[in-house]
Amino acid sequence: MYSEKVMDHFQNPRNVGEIQDASGTGTVGNAKCGDIMRIYLDIDDDQIIRDVKFKTFGCGAAVATSSMATELVKGKSVQEAMQVTNKAVMEALDGLPPVKVHCSLLAEEAIHAALWDYAQKNHIQIEGLKPPKSDISEGEEEEEY
Ligand code: FES
Repeated sequence: MYSEKVMDHFQNPRNVGEIQDASGTGTVGNAKCGDIMRIYLDIDDDQIIRDVKFKTFGCGAAVATSSMATELVKGKSVQEAMQVTNKAVMEALDGLPPVKVHCSLLAEEAIHAALWDYAQKNHIQIEGLKPPKSDISEGEEEEEY
């Protein structure tokens, strides 16, 4: 059911932990399944993501997608990090079962929330970045579970 990459990132998640005095942190949850993810970003003066850590209280797919998402944004500029969508994360993991697609949204939204926090603190604008939602299941009524 899960690809080898998903299993690998679930069993050996990369970048687990937290960053003290992070440049930006973002926490999002999905009220439908109760899963929560927090992302910490360490961003330098050139707007490059030097380090990233995450904590996920959630299902295996949420852990695997957070792990892969952190790998994808590390070393990137904040603008490049905007391209790390849930689709990009799923592709990098060789796919997820359809019922687990929403789990990958948690990773994308948590990164966006952390970028938003960073942008607010530094009074900058990141193109395409929208204010974060704390519950990503809002407005998802049409999706079937
Ligand atoms: Fe909720 Fe996976 S079941 S994030």
